[in-house]
Amino acid sequence: MSNYKSLFEIPEDIIYLNTAGSGLIPTAIKRWRGERDALFFNTAGDLREQQGAFMNSVKETIANFINAERDQLYASSNFSTALITVLNGLPKDTEFLLLEADYPSLNFPIISRGFKHSFVPLDTQLEQHIYEAVKTRKPQVLALSLVQYISGLQVELTFLQALKQEFPALLIIADGTQYLGAAALDFAQSGIDIFAASGYKWLLSGYGNGFVAVSAYAKEILYRDAKMTALEKMWEGRDLLSLYFEPGHTDTLAHGTLQKSIELLTSLGMPAVERHIQNLTSTAAQEFQKRHLIAPELSLRKQQSPLFNLQIDQAKYPFFLEKGVKCFPRGKGIRIAFHLYNDEQDLERLLKIIDNGKI
Ligand SMILES: Cc1ncc(COP(=O)(O)O)c(C=O)c1O
Repeated sequence: MSNYKSLFEIPEDIIYLNTAGSGLIPTAIKRWRGERDALFFNTAGDLREQQGAFMNSVKETIANFINAERDQLYASSNFSTALITVLNGLPKDTEFLLLEADYPSLNFPIISRGFKHSFVPLDTQLEQHIYEAVKTRKPQVLALSLVQYISGLQVELTFLQALKQEFPALLIIADGTQYLGAAALDFAQSGIDIFAASGYKWLLSGYGNGFVAVSAYAKEILYRDAKMTALEKMWEGRDLLSLYFEPGHTDTLAHGTLQKSIELLTSLGMPAVERHIQNLTSTAAQEFQKRHLIAPELSLRKQQSPLFNLQIDQAKYPFFLEKGVKCFPRGKGIRIAFHLYNDEQDLERLLKIIDNGKI
């Protein structure tokens, strides 16, 4: 299938380029949400009693999608909550390596909890900086977003894999919120120990859902000193980390949406989805470069994410909105992104708006 756009409701006069802010939900899944909500709140129905089994099936779907073991997967309402749970389970003297100006809800909870930390600069030599810092400063944890929310800079996944091989004791925490869904992940092979993501952007699932995957190595480290008493009967069979990552009851509508979207992406085939996005991304990169709208060195990178920060005065933001271009001011420019529902026509229309507007 190549006409992915037909799976979504996008009015003719809108060019939806704001997936990096919030992604669209497929039409069939919006319908499913309405039907399921009605069934769930039907007094005579039994969906409410199936909460546990339902969440297990959601986690199974996510685990298969990223090639993780089912018992490595925990549901979370978003990335930030999952990260905070990770941090609360690490020794207080843990030392972190961070990227300058990474997503605030990644850096802030680490810094504000008083963990020792240092930064590497966020530029096109990112991998080089990380490698040298790991070698010389010997942090215990590297925590980073795989795709940067302002610039779209994407860390090379093969680099992380090699880094982990050379430094097996380094705990790698990766935020995949701006990555997964535009691209696939093989968690087992990635070298990443803790991978967390929110589902409302590239995973097309709306708010209130996300997950975290935890490697066997990370499981040995997290909540190592937790004081365990005998588990209450109602918690029999639950593993310790699930009590931290999944305290209380969760919203099955939100997580069911994530399951449906992942099933859809799986049935479309992630390799085909990735190809579609990458083709559009590389055409867009060339066109933007011709117009000097992006830093030329960014396109020399091996992995180019579909998220662009166009170097356009933010005063032009209302102009783009007026033309139906859904985008967002970020950093020093205007952020746009291409997902599977975008196509060459969207790009052509955007370029025309830029050219005619003499931007
Ligand atoms: C890089 C990155 N990570 C994570 C998130 C979202 O995290 P949360 O849903 O916990 O706010 C965003 C949202 O903009 C993001 O850009």
